[in-house]
Amino acid sequence: MSEEKLQNLLHVSTVINPPESFVKNANVKSYEEEYKKFLDNPEVFWAEVAEELFWYRKWDKVLEWELPYAKWFVNAQTNITVNALDRHVKNGKKNKVAFFWEDEFGNEKVVTYGSLYTLVNKLANALKRAGIKKGDRVVIYMPLVIEQVAAMLACARIGAVHSVVYAGFSVPALRHRIEDAEAKMVITADVTIRRGRAIPLKQIVDEAIRDLETVEKVVVLRRLKPRVDLIGEKEIDFYKFIENEPSYCEPEVMDSEDPLFMLYTSGSTGKPKGVIHTTGGYMVGTYYSMKTVFDLKDDDIFWCTADPGWITGHSYIVYGPLVAGATQVIAEGAPNYPDFGRWWKLIEKYGVTIFYTAPTAIRMFMRAGEEWPNKYDLSSLRLLGSVGEPINPEAWLWYYKIIGKEKCPIVDTWWQTETGAVMITTIDGLPMKPGKAGKPVPGVIADVVDKEGNPVEADKGGFLVVKYPWPSMMRRIHKNPEKYESYWKTIPNCYFAGDVATKDADGYIMILGRADDVINVSGHRIGTMEVESALVSHPAVAEAAVIGKPDPVKGEAIKAFIILKSGHEPSDKLIEDLKYHVRMELGALAVPSEIEFVDKLPKTRSGKIMRRVLKAKELGMDPGDLSTLED
Ligand code: WT7
Repeated sequence: MSEEKLQNLLHVSTVINPPESFVKNANVKSYEEEYKKFLDNPEVFWAEVAEELFWYRKWDKVLEWELPYAKWFVNAQTNITVNALDRHVKNGKKNKVAFFWEDEFGNEKVVTYGSLYTLVNKLANALKRAGIKKGDRVVIYMPLVIEQVAAMLACARIGAVHSVVYAGFSVPALRHRIEDAEAKMVITADVTIRRGRAIPLKQIVDEAIRDLETVEKVVVLRRLKPRVDLIGEKEIDFYKFIENEPSYCEPEVMDSEDPLFMLYTSGSTGKPKGVIHTTGGYMVGTYYSMKTVFDLKDDDIFWCTADPGWITGHSYIVYGPLVAGATQVIAEGAPNYPDFGRWWKLIEKYGVTIFYTAPTAIRMFMRAGEEWPNKYDLSSLRLLGSVGEPINPEAWLWYYKIIGKEKCPIVDTWWQTETGAVMITTIDGLPMKPGKAGKPVPGVIADVVDKEGNPVEADKGGFLVVKYPWPSMMRRIHKNPEKYESYWKTIPNCYFAGDVATKDADGYIMILGRADDVINVSGHRIGTMEVESALVSHPAVAEAAVIGKPDPVKGEAIKAFIILKSGHEPSDKLIEDLKYHVRMELGALAVPSEIEFVDKLPKTRSGKIMRRVLKAKELGMDPGDLSTLED
């Protein structure tokens, strides 16, 4: 982070109060009272939330905890799809709209809770018939379509563990995830459509599963005409697969601690890790945040612009909103295609009341100019949200004025793949400070501490930690207990999130960025080592080092420093080649925007690349302690 950017962030002092009318009608009238209720008795607090949902069997104990492991709603039994579907269908909401879906061409689909219920049940039966059992892993590699949501829910219905892979990932990235999860099945589509162009997903799957023995079946949603060919016994058409299935599938009775899904995320090491979430706690945690953080009411139209390929989509398109019975808008494709009016047009058309997006999108629209949103009637909006990276005060204010017309509070929500649900923000009624995420939500004890775990002084930088278990916390990392435990071992008795932050005298937490070698590009976590290994796998590259560099739209952009093998010369063509190579290895998100050829890289005496030195040099900052530098 540049010194200038840091100073800008550090000087935020504006306080904006939410409109009185909002606070008066908010689900939670007083943050302080709600938080106190939690502190007085955390287990009673969470039990009360859980009581609102359906369980086959209630818990013997709310929380059983021995660091770094915790169990929530011990011995309770439920199925999250019964809460997300059956409960609503039986309670008079059969014809309530679950999703308004649109693609870039304006084709639309309206899906009610009743019809989603039928689709999920049929698919669940088909999965069973194909031999998928409780605990089996199913990889879902699909565009943002109803069938993608249904595939996740169908797995959950029968207790299969889904692993959704974002459809922007390339062959090796997808292959690694299928292999690591030992998936029995892949559910995909022929194409995803972005900027009017079809990206062939099935072809990517074909290559990714070559010689992977665990994959027994590939289910393909065929959208284009003429239809893509299916080859052999392994592949089957999505709608043929479910065609003759009964429209009810008895839900699997799941223990509260049975895994619900796994989702890969980047860390500071070479390979992404499979974060595992379980059933009961995740359900209760995401449901609670829908009602408090997003203040969801029965007649709201909720739109979270994420993709279910990320945790934001899992928690705030699929599980949270459906368990809470929300009506949602989802849109496949790019935010600015065919033009910069697309999102605002959808808000007007569907009367969206709660809108949740990322700072990178806000900054992109800011650049395109307010004439785009100003063409549309956005008066249905009553609450705005932001997620994925720090939102700079300038973008915050633009969002507040131009989109929210100064009448919608903004919840800047800090959380992670690992935390499952929103952890820090300003819930209903709390004054907002642009650039500062806010306070721990009720149910969360978060703080900013030093290496030893002692709270730091107000406004001083430190590490963001969570000091008490919460229901939607990850339970394991797939096949990697050491990695899981390391989250709780870096700072004594705390969950260390990997972020640096400050806390002001009012208790407002401001996130400054990652403390590790993770780059946040457009709100997505990219591991430096992953990009470096992709670069080194190119025949011309001897060594590579990658850093994040401030970018006005993406937040951070990737810059790579490359040492070439002898016999290779720097050239513009080689730069394009290297970018293409990373795109093919990892996906478009991980492509460096800048590549510089160098003769040497700063290293420690033990041979580790000192990225911090590269970064300081790049940004014209003091590189700090250089005593370990080799040369
Ligand atoms: C990392 C988690 C679940 C959110 C989507 C990304 C950064 C996330 C904020 C925010 C500042 C944020 C952090 C965090 N981050 N939200 N509101 N303000 N930073 O999930 O891929 O697991 O990434 O995103 O650095 O550690 P993720």
